[in-house]
Amino acid sequence: ARVAVLISGRGSNMAALLYASRLPDCPYEVVLVASNDPDAAGLALAKAERVPTFALSHKGMGRAEFDALIDAQLRAAGADYVALAGYMRLLSPEFIDKWGGRIVNIHPSLLPRYKGLDTHTRALEAGDRTVGCSVHEVTAELDDGPVLDQIEVAVLPGDTAETLAARVLIAEHQLYPRALANFVTRDRTPEAKLGRVREIAT
Ligand code: GRF
Repeated sequence: ARVAVLISGRGSNMAALLYASRLPDCPYEVVLVASNDPDAAGLALAKAERVPTFALSHKGMGRAEFDALIDAQLRAAGADYVALAGYMRLLSPEFIDKWGGRIVNIHPSLLPRYKGLDTHTRALEAGDRTVGCSVHEVTAELDDGPVLDQIEVAVLPGDTAETLAARVLIAEHQLYPRALANFVTRDRTPEAKLGRVREIAT
């Protein structure tokens, strides 16, 4: 499967997806990294790794108009799936219509708890004993689609939002490649999956 990754910043989850894609049994490849922020640090990493990139600031542009340009890039790259990795923009209903059922996102909370921003601060304020991360299918509502997979992370005495974010990020990097691999192969029959394993082995 051909995956385009959308980022807005650091791109550590994009990097986790990319490096996992180079393992021998991975069912997806990263064919494009696109950003709505031309200064996103993750773009430099993608370029250094020879992954095609596309960057365009959304400023001064309508949501549907901007997403149509992203859509054109995804099609040109031959992408089958879209993985959001720290992409800090809501997608337009038009875009969701086109890519519906083929978009996933990673979110730093145990959804359905704490949609939106500042998840770790909110979890600490609520006195949660465990936090975590979720990969979910993307729908028109923010952080709302069906949850595909999660990892729980224990809250330690003395944890701050920053220490929690750092530890949850480690879990995110484990979770996202596995969840994406499962997502892109979910329709494959067990025989077809086995066929792919044989193909690699020979
Ligand atoms: C991650 O915590 C992700 O869960 C959230 O935004 C952050 C992005 O980090 N959606 P990075 O750009 O992948 O390093």
